[in-house]
Amino acid sequence: MLRLNLFIFACGHHRAAWRHPDSCVERLGDIGYFEDLARTAERGKLDAVFFADGQSADNVADGPRWFLEPLTALAAMSRATERIGLISTVSSTFYTPFHAARLVASLDHISRGRIGWNVVTSMFDAEARNHGFDSMPDHAWRYARAEEFIQVVLDLWDSWGEGALLHDRKGAYADSSAIHPIHHKGEHFQVDGPLTVPHPPQGHPVLFQAGASDQGRDLAARRAEAIYAVAYDLPAAQEYYRDIKRRVRSAGRSDPVPIMPGLVAYVGSTDQEARAKQRELDELLPSADALRQLSMYVGQNCEQWELDAPVPALPPLEKFSGPKGRYATILRIIETERPTVRQLLGRLASGGGHCTMVGTPERIADEMERWLLNEGADGFNLMPPSLPGGIEDFVDHVIPVLQRRGLFRKDYETSTLRGHLGLARPACRNTSAVAAGVREGCG
Ligand SMILES: Cc1cc2nc3c(=O)[nH]c(=O)nc-3n(C[C@H](O)[C@H](O)[C@H](O)COP(=O)(O)O)c2cc1C
Repeated sequence: MLRLNLFIFACGHHRAAWRHPDSCVERLGDIGYFEDLARTAERGKLDAVFFADGQSADNVADGPRWFLEPLTALAAMSRATERIGLISTVSSTFYTPFHAARLVASLDHISRGRIGWNVVTSMFDAEARNHGFDSMPDHAWRYARAEEFIQVVLDLWDSWGEGALLHDRKGAYADSSAIHPIHHKGEHFQVDGPLTVPHPPQGHPVLFQAGASDQGRDLAARRAEAIYAVAYDLPAAQEYYRDIKRRVRSAGRSDPVPIMPGLVAYVGSTDQEARAKQRELDELLPSADALRQLSMYVGQNCEQWELDAPVPALPPLEKFSGPKGRYATILRIIETERPTVRQLLGRLASGGGHCTMVGTPERIADEMERWLLNEGADGFNLMPPSLPGGIEDFVDHVIPVLQRRGLFRKDYETSTLRGHLGLARPACRNTSAVAAGVREGCG
């Protein structure tokens, strides 16, 4: 069975999507827009909707990025839906673990067990400068903090045993022997606890992770219950998939840890119609800006490049001295797709290095199945180029094909995100509550 998330991003993942006449750009501050997206995803029986997050307002003139704070938006979206999971990004570099534990546990109660949190270490100096740093703290420091951050959050969630609430009007509200301080004193945090919020309905809301570096992969292997990834094509996806599954096994874990690469899908009733949807968005990109940005990515002036001609030859990766990751992706797109300059700009403006599939529902389902059966993915993080149209196309046309093939659920069988993803409930480490035997205990 595939796992499928809708990755919600403003008017869609194509940078020009907001310019389209049908975009909902005026509604980005209207929670009704996000509630509608969540309801559409729920109609398609998706596992969850997901918000990324950033902590700075850069490049505002290029188009919308952030508007409503994701955890706040999810509170409303949980009231507009019944079964679908709700996942937000949480920065371990900028949040304190007490804040994060409290917010996410509250949402798990509000949604009755449908919350996931995607722990990121954040990336940009502009974000750091909004949180008391001069620049982004170094990578190793951020990952050491992330490790401790996760541990403290989990400890805080366990600071209330599952049976701690008694509601005995003639006696006690809560069993104080099942509620414990955590007295954490570490390198990054000092937290007494207990949390102000009783044990979350899922035990622990589901932990997602998406780091690509060695430290990111190790943290994911040790801690993540599900993983978001970036993979341009099946060989790249397989390399990542096999590496992570190996690291999970070496960490002594036997949990499934589903891996979900991003997927940008243009769906049409014919391949031509799908390609026309892609072209329509690509043509909305202001080309002068896009060419200036491309010049930075490839380390040479591209501003005179002919938009509808093939991309001129570029030096090999070894000869390029700038940041290599994006340059390698650009070389790969040129090698495999032989795009025109306009098509390359469009590819980079819609999901960048994420996998793109263009075609009929059957063609897209075939490709997804190939990834699923060949250790490329356990599911996908859907990144529609435009919203709401892109997710409506997917739900109405691709999901039924996947369902007919037995690759995706026809209805929800559980009511929690943990249940949808087939993940076991974590054992509660609040052993004193269990040992006291006053109530049923945890787990
Ligand atoms: C699907 C996906 C979503 C992500 N969302 C965010 C995000 O919302 N905010 C963020 O700062 N980083 C985000 N990231 C980036 C990472 O999780 C990670 O922090 C970043 O890659 C730096 O870690 P690394 O050096 O291990 O790659 C995302 C990555 C992926 C693949």
